[in-house]
Amino acid sequence: MSPAVTICRDGDDLAARAADLVAQAAEAAIWARGRAMLALAGGSTPKVTYGLMAQPARRIRIDWARTFLFLGDERFVPPDDPSSNFAMVRRTLLAPVPVPARHAFPVPTQLGTAAAAAAAYAATLAEEFAIGDRGGPPRFDLILLGLGEDGHTASLFPGAASLSVSDRWVAATPPGTLPPPVERITLTFPVLNAARAVVFLVSGASKAEALRDVLEGRPSREERPAVGVRPADGTLTWLVDEAAAGRLTR
Ligand code: 6PG
Repeated sequence: MSPAVTICRDGDDLAARAADLVAQAAEAAIWARGRAMLALAGGSTPKVTYGLMAQPARRIRIDWARTFLFLGDERFVPPDDPSSNFAMVRRTLLAPVPVPARHAFPVPTQLGTAAAAAAAYAATLAEEFAIGDRGGPPRFDLILLGLGEDGHTASLFPGAASLSVSDRWVAATPPGTLPPPVERITLTFPVLNAARAVVFLVSGASKAEALRDVLEGRPSREERPAVGVRPADGTLTWLVDEAAAGRLTR
């Protein structure tokens, strides 16, 4: 299925459409399977989206008691660190909405190593998705992703070993070239490509070159990891603002 690309007026328009997409995906999942399994993006772009989702008019659309929230990736920093993705999600979304605390799953970065945190997060996925030893990968109802200026997504960085991981759902990866310069824990391609829906949120002119390459070029996943996101049996949507779309030709 070819990706759907929606060019939004600006960051606010992008955030509003993203918040609506998340609510629709959660409603549909709960209707079909009794619960919604969502993986959220880190970084700065989704903050406005999470803020909108927390506003009264939108938060009533999601049955938070049946919604489970995971992270697509995390920085290997303490959970209360300013650069923690979970801290950002807690501040912008979890604090204002009635999601049970046991339904939000931070990456256990308090563990000694990023590898240990990755292994523990994979075990949590297996438990929450009720996947036995031979099953999997977990099939999220929706995964939100961002795009780095270098074409990375989640914490799958250009040239990194984690790009070729096929036997694990979560990997530890060395710092990328973009800040913060810390180890990361990331969902791997097998999980990203098992999702029912993946939505990229891309905002700002600094992303224009990477976005053009990913959508219109033929880079390898080594060069631009975001091209490796191709849900096998799911939808792929790009919500991009005009600034980020500035170099698209089509
Ligand atoms: C992270 C993210 C990362 C992010 C991109 C875009 O932990 O940094 O998960 O993949 O989505 O780097 O980041 P911005 O939205 O901040 O531009």
